[in-house]
Amino acid sequence: MTMIKIIQNKNRGGAVDTSAYSFAATENIRNLHASLKVYKETPLIELKNFKGVRSIFIKDESQRFGLKAFKGLGSVWAMHKIISESKEKTENMTFITTTDGNHGKGVSWAAGLFGCKSYVYMPRGTVEVRAQAIRDAGSATVKITDMNYDDCVKYTARLAEENHWHLIQDTSWEGYEEIPAQIMLGYSTLAYEALRQMNYQRPTHIFLQTGVGSMAGAIAAVFAEVFKDNPPRITIVEPTEVACFYETMRIGDGKIHSATGNGQTMMAGLNCATPCELAWKILRRYAADTAIISDDVAADAMRILAGHKIISGESGCAGFALANAALDDKNLRRALELDEQSIIFVINTEGDTDPDNYKKILQ
Ligand SMILES: Cc1ncc(COP(=O)(O)O)c(C=O)c1O
Repeated sequence: MTMIKIIQNKNRGGAVDTSAYSFAATENIRNLHASLKVYKETPLIELKNFKGVRSIFIKDESQRFGLKAFKGLGSVWAMHKIISESKEKTENMTFITTTDGNHGKGVSWAAGLFGCKSYVYMPRGTVEVRAQAIRDAGSATVKITDMNYDDCVKYTARLAEENHWHLIQDTSWEGYEEIPAQIMLGYSTLAYEALRQMNYQRPTHIFLQTGVGSMAGAIAAVFAEVFKDNPPRITIVEPTEVACFYETMRIGDGKIHSATGNGQTMMAGLNCATPCELAWKILRRYAADTAIISDDVAADAMRILAGHKIISGESGCAGFALANAALDDKNLRRALELDEQSIIFVINTEGDTDPDNYKKILQ
């Protein structure tokens, strides 16, 4: 059944310092990315007058580093930082992480680049093709477990401690913040590329899909830094059955809360049940609301983007999916304050990372 629901962030607030995301502070990150042989700015596509808004800009990360997703930006930067600050010989270093796909691919790839070992653990229900893509991307030994994502994260954190390996996880919790903070900073490159490609035009709206929210938090922080006096209106997008930011805003006590749905969604990259603490600090301050969308809303968006020659996977399309569906519904338009002056920015965060499902949906 088609479902879209929006809930407001009534706890908007909390002081947050986003200065680490300023253009100047992130220059060394962009330099590291640009120094990689495979680096190429990803495209920004503008659909003018889309369903009655002025424009929708789509940053297409499906081609990032040949990994079909944006995630490598974070892992390669964080790994570079860990290696450059470590006294260990690089070839003796081992990295470990949990992933539902794209982050693990980034870790495997980056570890391969730097000549390090890596282990990647995946939650139950992961399709084998995603595990194989992680092996193919770089150095990782990959295992699909019978745990859910949150338990798998705890398990890999324990393995890291027992073996003196480096945990490189794209979500934070109390006592584990430095590395996820660097991963989030790594995502800033895509926002600064997009801003330059838009000639620093201010979007009125940004729709950002979340798993743990690290990507959304990082992008929100960049736009808050650049448009300090008038940051764009930010909406978080989640799958209906794994909606931890929705739950966090519904309860509205300012603390993070885990999702309560049944965990079923084809949007594998967004299938994370607990928000990243660091991301919530930023999103609590800057997100106006959270929308939940059902899988069919995403499938429609994948087909429409394919028509514009953009390959967009199940999680990749979610920000666009909200725009596409909301613009057809006058109540949702009103809730999101969309009109003919609106300029929407979204990120196609992945390509066809599950090629069989992609083909099935496009048939
Ligand atoms: C394709 C894709 N989009 C969006 C996200 C969400 O990123 P985050 O978990 O930082 O919220 C992920 C996370 O894995 C992803 O793989």
